[in-house]
Amino acid sequence: MTPEALRRRVYNIAEMRRHARRILPKPVFDFADGGAEEEWTLRRNESAFDRHHLVPQTLRGAAERDLSVELFDKTLALPVMIGPTGLSGLFWPNGEICAARAAAAAGTAFCLSHASVCTIEELAETGVAPRWMQVFIYKDRGFTRELAERAQAVGYDALVLTIDNQLTGNRERDVRNGFTIPPRLAPLDVAAMATKLPWLLRMRPELKRITFANYVRPGDASGLTRLAGRVAEMLDPAMSWRDVDELRRVWNGPLILKSVLSPVEAREALQHGVDGIVVSNHGGRQLDGAVSSIEALPDVVESVEGRIPVLLDGGVRRGADVVKALALGARACLIARPQLWGLAVAGEQGVARVLEIYRSEIDRVMGLSGLRRIADIGADLLRSAPRR
Ligand SMILES: Cc1cc2nc3c(=O)[nH]c(=O)nc-3n(C[C@H](O)[C@H](O)[C@H](O)COP(=O)(O)O)c2cc1C
Repeated sequence: MTPEALRRRVYNIAEMRRHARRILPKPVFDFADGGAEEEWTLRRNESAFDRHHLVPQTLRGAAERDLSVELFDKTLALPVMIGPTGLSGLFWPNGEICAARAAAAAGTAFCLSHASVCTIEELAETGVAPRWMQVFIYKDRGFTRELAERAQAVGYDALVLTIDNQLTGNRERDVRNGFTIPPRLAPLDVAAMATKLPWLLRMRPELKRITFANYVRPGDASGLTRLAGRVAEMLDPAMSWRDVDELRRVWNGPLILKSVLSPVEAREALQHGVDGIVVSNHGGRQLDGAVSSIEALPDVVESVEGRIPVLLDGGVRRGADVVKALALGARACLIARPQLWGLAVAGEQGVARVLEIYRSEIDRVMGLSGLRRIADIGADLLRSAPRR
């Protein structure tokens, strides 16, 4: 799609998803779109924003709006950054690098997933910044340390430790679709041909190359399916605060804990020298029934008492969602699926369009609410219905 067509036809994030759904083979679309089991948490992440109603004060004069925020000594042009997603390179060739470039061009940060198709070093070579690196705790603690050290050696700005992936979530769409890595795709019927063929042609040469690049050892000849199995076996449900302490010793920059939902855990994070928290439930892909991110946010914010920044991801699909999260105390939001939809539709341009949609929606919400700066967004902007 040309940049002009993108602007005209993809006017919000739901439209980007709709286009991505047409373009991608069903197993690939569902791999990104789906959640665990009943997908209750996935749905709740989006719908729980509806509890919060904006209360504008329009006579404050907001002719121009400044969307910038400070985060770990860097200025982001907008309070939205790109969160980690494994196998982004399945959606567009060099998907991670395309998304990171779009983020940098929009003046925001990009977080590379442990399961990226490009390596930590390949992304660093592009010079895009700010860039963060995300890791898990593995049974082989040396491997977690190795990923952190590799990221440190090539100048990543922050390390994100995701703590809700200690077992693989039960994603039933993937089971139903027989989704494998790399995907094995059924022959297309004639009707599907017209819309799916461009992706197939674009990705066919890539599919052979798709791998968990950070895990591949020199001379490692095992196939990707075996590698995927190995990655799953490496996860460790026995992880504990001791592992956070160990990473704290290894990593010199900001250390961010991703997937904190409990205020008790948030409080404890302070005692372990953590510099930031992402309130998240992995987009409903792990523990179905887990509280939605926006409902978990206020208690987490209260428990850290402003000592470290709290970020949020999960179901952020509108600029108004971002503004609501900020009004409840988040410093910024991360988006995951929307950037994958953007990648599927138009690579780097598609992600740029996604970020532009958020930027313009946040700007409009602020203008309509009488808010000039992000710092003006406070609790008085919201009236919240009681929790149900
Ligand atoms: C396809 C896909 C892959 C993901 N891979 C990772 C990952 O490797 N590491 C991680 O911490 N989170 C991962 N996530 C979770 C996201 O970072 C994010 O927490 C979640 O999707 C919520 O945001 P969303 O509602 O904007 O998608 C992944 C999400 C998706 C959809």
